[in-house]
Amino acid sequence: AAAAKIAPSMLSSDFANLAAEAERMVRFGAEWLHMDIMDGHFVPNLTIGAPVIESLRKHTKAYLDCHLMVTNPLDYVDPLAKAGASGFTFHIEVAKEYWQELIRSIKSKGMRPGVALKPTTPVEEVFSLVEAEDPVELVLVMTVEPGFGGQKFMPEMMEKVRALRNKYPALDIEVDGGLGPSTIDAAASAGANCIVAGSSIFGATEPAEVINILRKSVEG
Ligand code: DX5
Ligand code: ZN
Repeated sequence: AAAAKIAPSMLSSDFANLAAEAERMVRFGAEWLHMDIMDGHFVPNLTIGAPVIESLRKHTKAYLDCHLMVTNPLDYVDPLAKAGASGFTFHIEVAKEYWQELIRSIKSKGMRPGVALKPTTPVEEVFSLVEAEDPVELVLVMTVEPGFGGQKFMPEMMEKVRALRNKYPALDIEVDGGLGPSTIDAAASAGANCIVAGSSIFGATEPAEVINILRKSVEG
């Protein structure tokens, strides 16, 4: 079975103290740091890009799980690789014409390729990317509309997670949006093993406890 990865979404952290926030999450046991890269076009919000990843990389060895909510992911491969990104997860909705080229380029730059799908995108659209000669190694099932933290978890997305887990026992399946102690069991029992959580971790008085609750649910 795929190992649990708890990935605090740094979007909910204090951006003015990003290095300290990252250090604290690693100390609390987070395996990954989830970095939400938005371009103000694919989604109606603007966050961080390669320069911030580069700055953060100087302060941490942690796995930087980059989620690209951008219209032109190809343009981000080189800059993010140079900045020290670990995972590069693009959205299928913008990459239907060139995902093969994109995956090859992500891998050739030493990053781990993943594909994300919005709530309205059918899960079947990513099957060929998992089965390709150069496959994605992670599928991110959005459980809210991408763009903002603090939204409500969409339980109906668990059907997609179950379909993926049935087909691909070893695949990294990530869920993102509205995850926390009250929604984790639905996601974990559907088969998700990579858990992004922003507001539930950063909004907690004891973030370490929330991270532990999430991991215990995935590990069963
Ligand atoms: C939303 C982002 C998420 C977001 C999750 O577009 O992809 O990573 O930060 O935040 P919460 O956990 O608060 O829903
Ligand atoms: Zn995200």
